[in-house]
Amino acid sequence: MIPSIRHLGHAGFVVEHAGLRILIDPWFHPAFLEAWFPYPDNRDLLPEVVAGRYDYLYISHTHEDHFDRRLLAQLSRDVTVLVPRYRTKSLSRSLAALGFGQQVLLGHREEHRLGPDSTATMLLDTSHKEDSGLLLDLGGYRFLDLNDCNTPMSELPGDVDLLAAQYSGAMWYPNAYDYPAEMMAAKTAAVRSDLLDTLARKVKLTGARAYLPSAGPACFLDPELDRFNDRDATIFPHWEDVAPVFAAVCPETRVVRTAPGDLVAAPAPPGRWFTDPAGYLADYRERRCADWEAYHEGEPAPVTAEEVEAHFARLQRLNRPLLADYRRDLRLETGGTAWGLTLGGLAAQVELEDEPVDPAYVIRIPPRALRAVLDGRAGWEEALLSMRLSLHRDPDVFDLTMLSLLRYGHQPAQTRQLVRERAGPVETIERDGLRLQRYCPHAGEDLSHAEITGGVVECPRHHWKWDTTTGACVSGGALSLHIEPAERPSA
Ligand code: FES
Repeated sequence: MIPSIRHLGHAGFVVEHAGLRILIDPWFHPAFLEAWFPYPDNRDLLPEVVAGRYDYLYISHTHEDHFDRRLLAQLSRDVTVLVPRYRTKSLSRSLAALGFGQQVLLGHREEHRLGPDSTATMLLDTSHKEDSGLLLDLGGYRFLDLNDCNTPMSELPGDVDLLAAQYSGAMWYPNAYDYPAEMMAAKTAAVRSDLLDTLARKVKLTGARAYLPSAGPACFLDPELDRFNDRDATIFPHWEDVAPVFAAVCPETRVVRTAPGDLVAAPAPPGRWFTDPAGYLADYRERRCADWEAYHEGEPAPVTAEEVEAHFARLQRLNRPLLADYRRDLRLETGGTAWGLTLGGLAAQVELEDEPVDPAYVIRIPPRALRAVLDGRAGWEEALLSMRLSLHRDPDVFDLTMLSLLRYGHQPAQTRQLVRERAGPVETIERDGLRLQRYCPHAGEDLSHAEITGGVVECPRHHWKWDTTTGACVSGGALSLHIEPAERPSA
């Protein structure tokens, strides 16, 4: 019997099989400082989702477009939650704080029996990142919900009937950076191409017979953020923008185009798939004005230098191992004030300077967003994802240490794992006459699937590149790769 799978929009699903009901990542309310909204609008499904009774609830990770606190607060607690077993335990704790006490914690590839002919298998991003996907085997029908999770490619299951995964970006790079127009266009095109390449690999490796575009893109209803709704100039394209390329590289895979509320077995008829029809976003913005206007309510209390100093001093104290041998100047600009901060140097105090230093990294943040970060109502991860910040870096190189400090520093279990990943021991593989580190130093992809041509190793996930002779990173970031000839010449 084929299960009933209903798409709720974004990464949300209700799955029914043999009397079982499973609710997955239901998202209805604005996320990340009231910046992201589900696209297309799915709010009309909210009453029935809230009123529904479910045997299982699965929340993939703590990002607010998956962990919708306002929605979860309205659900019946008489449900068993399938929870990825993350190092920080923050997802499990947040769910428990909301009253979801019946939890089944599952580590990577751990399976839980849901019913006589049904199982759920957890798939984790096995790097320092905390993200997960779920494989449901329902009477032999295999539904793989990868949402925006990047489980190493070598760990993906095969023989999948339906794959739901992201095709668009869900990141502030490059569109939140202040690149000149031409450079922005080139970087945006590169990210879009990389995202499709990664998707095509996932489709091929899982043997997916059908693919459902999910987990994005969101839309931005606050008029201040309207530029990020540009489907051509951002990493947030419509499916129809990328469909021809996908069809060319995955011709065997059927694409299931759904609108919120559609059953996978009876998806939207051709032409009903949204492509921002005229006036659609304007009407949606009007309907949800109370939601996005909430961000602008009231005057935020002025931010003081002491608060900023205390905030970064605490972040650094919590993450001393990450900051060993690290030193970087950061400028924080907000509401006409600029502070220079020196991060790293272990015990070094954060220095606030009246005269801006020449920083390698600049964060321009509205006072309202900075107030939310300092008050703990949002983390830097949420602030960055909101696209309300503007960023500048020189040199234009990804700084894993600084971004990890900001993104995960409040939960140092993640940065400690990053330090462990860097320190080794390094597992190696042999490819093309080379012995190289197996897992990518950026975010842990299995380089068994790397491209190696012309003296360059290219990671299949975010496409960083390394020189095969030196291991130096030549594109993407600044982390080198352990690499050497497989057979060292005898002395
Ligand atoms: S995991 Fe990001 S480039 Fe390899």
